[in-house]
Amino acid sequence: MVGENDPVKVMKQEVGKAAAARVESGMIVGLGTGSTTAYAIEFLGSRLQSGELKNIKGVPTSFQAEVLAKKYGIPLTSLDAISQIDIAIDGADEVDPQKNLIKGGGAAHTREKVVDSLADMFIVVVDSGKLVKELGSTFLLPVEVIPMAISPAMRAIEKLGGKPELRMGVKKAGPVVTDQGNLVIDVKFDKIDNPGELEKTINNIPGVLENGLFVNVADLVLVGEIVDGKPTVREM
Ligand code: A5P
Repeated sequence: MVGENDPVKVMKQEVGKAAAARVESGMIVGLGTGSTTAYAIEFLGSRLQSGELKNIKGVPTSFQAEVLAKKYGIPLTSLDAISQIDIAIDGADEVDPQKNLIKGGGAAHTREKVVDSLADMFIVVVDSGKLVKELGSTFLLPVEVIPMAISPAMRAIEKLGGKPELRMGVKKAGPVVTDQGNLVIDVKFDKIDNPGELEKTINNIPGVLENGLFVNVADLVLVGEIVDGKPTVREM
C-alpha cells in the first residue's frame, strides 16, 4: 500500500526498478536523466552490489547521471569506446499515445537524444501523470540554443507560432546553462499537429542544437500507477 508515502515518488520508484530489472549481465546501458531514472540507476547499483548483475557499463546522458552512476558503483564508458547500446532507460515530461515524447525538463535532452536513439531498446520510465493525448498540452517544449544565437532563434520560433521563454536558474542568478554550456528556450505552442515535422523545423534554425521532441525513438513505455492503493507498472 502507498500509505503516507508520496504517490508520485512511489510510482517513480517502482517504474525505475521495473526498467532496471530488464538489464542483463554484460549489457551496455544508456543512463537517462531526471528523478525517475535516478531510481533505475540506484537499483542497477544494488543489483551489481548483490552480484545478481555483472559486467555492465553505463553511458551517462548528463552530469547528473554520471554523478549517480559513480555513487552507486556503475562502471562508465563513452560513445568513443563502444559501437552499440543494448538498453537505454530514460524519463520523459510527456508521452503521447504513439509513444512520442517531450523531454528536456532537466535540460539534458541533447545528450539524451544521442544516447536513447542509439539503443537497441529504449525504455521510457514515467508515472501516469506524464501521459497526454497531445504533446505540448501540459509541458513547454525545451530547445537548446548556443548563447550567441539566442535572440534570432527566439524570433524564428515566434515566426513558427511559438511563445519562447529563456529558462532561468533556480538558486542561481541568470539563465540555466546546459552541460554543453548552452542556453534553453522553453516554447509554448497552442497545438503540435505534427511532432515529427516540428522537430525537424526547429532543429533547422541556425544556432539550435536540439529540441525536446523525441519522435519514433521510444521502443517501450513503462508506466507507474497506483491501482487500488497499490503501486503497479504496466507497459503502454
Ligand atoms: C531531462 O532533461 C529530462 O528529459 C528528463 O528525462 C525528464 O524531465 C523526466 O524527468 P523526471 O523523471 O524527473 O520527471
